[in-house]
Amino acid sequence: MKSKVTVPDLRARKRSPQKICVLTAYDATMARLLDEGGADVLLVGDSLGMVVQGLNNTLPVTLEEICYHGRAVARGARRAQVVGDMPFMSFQLSPRDALQAAGRMIKEGSFEAVKLEGGAAYVEHVQAIVGAGIPVMGHLGLLPQSVHAMGGFRVQGRDEVSAERLIRDARALAEAGAYAVVLEGIPAELGKRLTESVDIPTIGIGAGPHCDGQVLVCYDFLGMYSEVRPKFVKRFAELGQAVIEATQAYVAEVQSGTFPGHEHSFGGAPAKPKPTEDTGARPVVDTTRPGYGPASEDPS
Ligand code: KIV
Repeated sequence: MKSKVTVPDLRARKRSPQKICVLTAYDATMARLLDEGGADVLLVGDSLGMVVQGLNNTLPVTLEEICYHGRAVARGARRAQVVGDMPFMSFQLSPRDALQAAGRMIKEGSFEAVKLEGGAAYVEHVQAIVGAGIPVMGHLGLLPQSVHAMGGFRVQGRDEVSAERLIRDARALAEAGAYAVVLEGIPAELGKRLTESVDIPTIGIGAGPHCDGQVLVCYDFLGMYSEVRPKFVKRFAELGQAVIEATQAYVAEVQSGTFPGHEHSFGGAPAKPKPTEDTGARPVVDTTRPGYGPASEDPS
């Protein structure tokens, strides 16, 4: 089995030409596929509010929901580090609240690190979490949890004053002990400046090509989510269209009686009892690993 990606591995990438590849994931099956494909980090983002729950923004997502999806992703991830997004109002009130929420995410969500949105204002919060041995990833620039304050999902740091504030924020997070920082929705030139300003890896999303790593929402890069299509999204597949076409073929075959055929059917009733036939169904995750949940078939 490939060894787990760790915080020291990711920190070391700052000085390496090998970029950090991050994707979001929300369930075990997708996590297993993205892990097999070579993603270094799987982020259970609060973007799940939009791409999984169908909400307009991430604000209603709860700690319990993040933990539920975290447990599922952790079962599917063999090599990738699993990081959980701290939901809106789970960490903002005080460093103590932040530590309590981060602790629950490690214990109840099976996460290996947490991510939180915000800069210098949250230095004490980051210090409290890091002080308890929980790795923290920062998040600067376009902050989806501040969508109302920003007046929408808008590019940040376009003028020099706000660019310099973001550089101060990034340095403050690094000094507080964050091991990496996501840079979202900023000009490419500022992405370069920020990457050169801190000694922790920067992970860009709409931050240009100069960051130490990249993150995309899995449903975006697979072409499955079309409600919002930001400029920075590249669709590496068109699985949304593939799902529609597969569904049309399924509906047509069920309606015409082509499916299920003999090859998908079990034999007739036996004269005397026979051993139960194997359906072919198998658990989607490795049953030998600790933390394995319910099997996909009942062996009894
Ligand atoms: O919630 C999320 O998925 C994120 C990434 C887009 C960075 O924060």
